[in-house]
Amino acid sequence: MTSSELENLRKGALEELSKIESLSELEGFKVKFLGKKGVITQKLKSLKSLPLEEKRQVGSFLNRLKEELLRGIQNKEKELLFKEEDRDLGIDLTLPGRKRAIGAIHPLNVVINELCEIFGRLGFSIATGPEVETEYYNFTALNIPDWHPARDMQATFYLKNGAILRTHTSPIQIRTMLKKKPPLRIVAPGKVYRYDADVRHSPMFHQIEGLMVDKRVSFADLKGILTYFAQETFGEGTRVRFRPSYFPFTEPSVEMDIGCVICGGKGCRVCSHTGWLEILGAGMVHPEVFKAAGYDPSEWQGFAFGMGIERIAMIKYGIDDIRLFFENHRNFLQSFK
Ligand code: PHE
Repeated sequence: MTSSELENLRKGALEELSKIESLSELEGFKVKFLGKKGVITQKLKSLKSLPLEEKRQVGSFLNRLKEELLRGIQNKEKELLFKEEDRDLGIDLTLPGRKRAIGAIHPLNVVINELCEIFGRLGFSIATGPEVETEYYNFTALNIPDWHPARDMQATFYLKNGAILRTHTSPIQIRTMLKKKPPLRIVAPGKVYRYDADVRHSPMFHQIEGLMVDKRVSFADLKGILTYFAQETFGEGTRVRFRPSYFPFTEPSVEMDIGCVICGGKGCRVCSHTGWLEILGAGMVHPEVFKAAGYDPSEWQGFAFGMGIERIAMIKYGIDDIRLFFENHRNFLQSFK
């Protein structure tokens, strides 16, 4: 074999390799050149009959070519595997990259932040308490004894160990007063639980509690602060009214309504044609509550209020199904950006 014959063999093989487009073709190529009866294998076998000097030259050329082809086959194989993978995944490399959606603050947290900020301006700081509560803090200390029918007002989840899931944020009033000396002003947002579920009720929902205690806090302070809150939250022109109500832990007790933001007070489906939307419960702290918290009711006065965050958010954003807050569909959440 002349050296130009050998060089042609090499060129031919490399050209053939470069044109290969599938793994099965590549397999064929491998067999053709490097298989037991392959071109190179045969040529190496036939070296025996050559004179020593030629044997050495041709042999080393063929062995180098063999290495070169093996490397070439390996590279080709990688290239083809990648291509096939892309085809399998349906990847079109000319398409633009995927967009990553940027998160937004959940509407309930938007409302919680806003309310905390509004009350923060009035000197209220933020307090928290546990969601797993004892009956003592959730009921008894709030002047709701065992036999009291108000225990049935709030469908309670009982845990096996005798603890409960808090049914309102009011136990935070007690926990805060036991820890801190008066005067104090706190708001306490958090999750609460009641055995109840439909378009307007979720077994888990959020409330924000408020408590202000000082030497001289009157019902006028309650009205003034809650009116300010309503106008900051729902707009300057928002009208409010207070209706007498009952809670065991406040006396006197009220519920506060705002003029319906949907119909402007004319009456519509949302306000059940009353022109008013109920948004919170409130009242002057009951002396029994002060006693349970270790405050002297002859020395300290205060008011408390509690409201449902979902309800505030539904009114503010015109949402008619509470479940939307917990299903967390992206389109819903994105609309609050
Ligand atoms: N805890 C009451 C409720 O869940 C609301 C409330 C809080 C009323 C504080 C008065 C004072 O309905």
